[in-house]
Amino acid sequence: MSAASADGPLVLGIETSCDETGVGIVRGRTLLADSVASSVDEHARFGGVVPEVASRAHLEAMVPTLERACEIAGVQMWELDAVAVTSGPGLAGALLVGVAAAKALSIGLGKPVYGVNHLASHVAVDQLEHGPLPEPCLAMLVSGGHSSLLRVDDVTAKIDPLGSTIDDAAGEAFDKVARLLGLPFPGGPHIDRAARSGSSVAIDFPRGLSSGRDLERHRFDFSFSGLKTAVARWVEARERAGEPVPLADVAASFQEAVCDVLTRKAVDAAVALRVDDLLIGGGVAANSRLRVLAEQRATSKGIRVRVPRPGLCTDNGAMVAALGAELVARGRPASSLDLPADSSLPVTAVLG
Ligand code: KG4
Ligand code: ZN
Repeated sequence: MSAASADGPLVLGIETSCDETGVGIVRGRTLLADSVASSVDEHARFGGVVPEVASRAHLEAMVPTLERACEIAGVQMWELDAVAVTSGPGLAGALLVGVAAAKALSIGLGKPVYGVNHLASHVAVDQLEHGPLPEPCLAMLVSGGHSSLLRVDDVTAKIDPLGSTIDDAAGEAFDKVARLLGLPFPGGPHIDRAARSGSSVAIDFPRGLSSGRDLERHRFDFSFSGLKTAVARWVEARERAGEPVPLADVAASFQEAVCDVLTRKAVDAAVALRVDDLLIGGGVAANSRLRVLAEQRATSKGIRVRVPRPGLCTDNGAMVAALGAELVARGRPASSLDLPADSSLPVTAVLG
């Protein structure tokens, strides 16, 4: 009997949209391996991901990461039912490395290839931890490149955007504020840690698009660049006055402003859509304050919250494999071998 008919399809997923080379292997909704090689250290001194550096690092890491994933899963490549790969959105050169590797595997193994959407994968990964996705549900994706509220009717076929950031992404704001506070890249985890010993009400930073006409016009959109500028001005004023910058208080107050807006709008959207489940994904979903506040606010409205464990929130190959397995299980057609890497693939296109 084939593995696919017993416990779901055996799928390998490849993720190379940014600075993580991820290879994951799942059988149906069971995670077998999640191998990630990151080039983050090579970008640290630039304060952001350098596309050419990321592409080269993917090339170097691809084969060893594939081999490690198969070894951890105890799987031989010929046993796979399908190969899935992030075909967009993301950095063009970085995506190309993953897409080329997936096509090579597909041809070599004679198995179908599924080019999938990175954002849909961030949603699908939760199945590996919490079981079948409740559909419809509301997904909030918060990462270095995206901050979106999505209505998910079918993670393999129907995802509709309700709103997104009109300037910086939430993770980008964390990274930029961390930089001006002298914390390393990527800044999110460092701010999260620094905030634990600070006061979230020490400084009243602005909440973008949260009141008056801004809120009316952008009910489900986000804006974080005004907040980032407000933090910069506040820090500059302290430095000009020769006073020390209370790093923990700035971190905690900034983090509170981001998490306040994200959770308020997510819960508002879930209530407006009358969905009972809110799923949070993307790197910023690893934030400890975001997880607590989302849980509190959603629960008070009778909404359940699902957040994958931090390692599955940041970019990885398992999320791509998870979506690939769901596509196979629901009988969706595979991609053709001229599958392109599409750096601006819209979230409505689950398959590339
Ligand atoms: O999803 P991801 O790994 O890559 C993108 O697709 O962007 O997200 C990376 C982002 C970075 O901006 C990083 O600072 C942020 O996620 N991040 C966090 C935390 N951990 C990672 N932001 C806030 N708190 C955290 N604990
Ligand atoms: Zn991501």
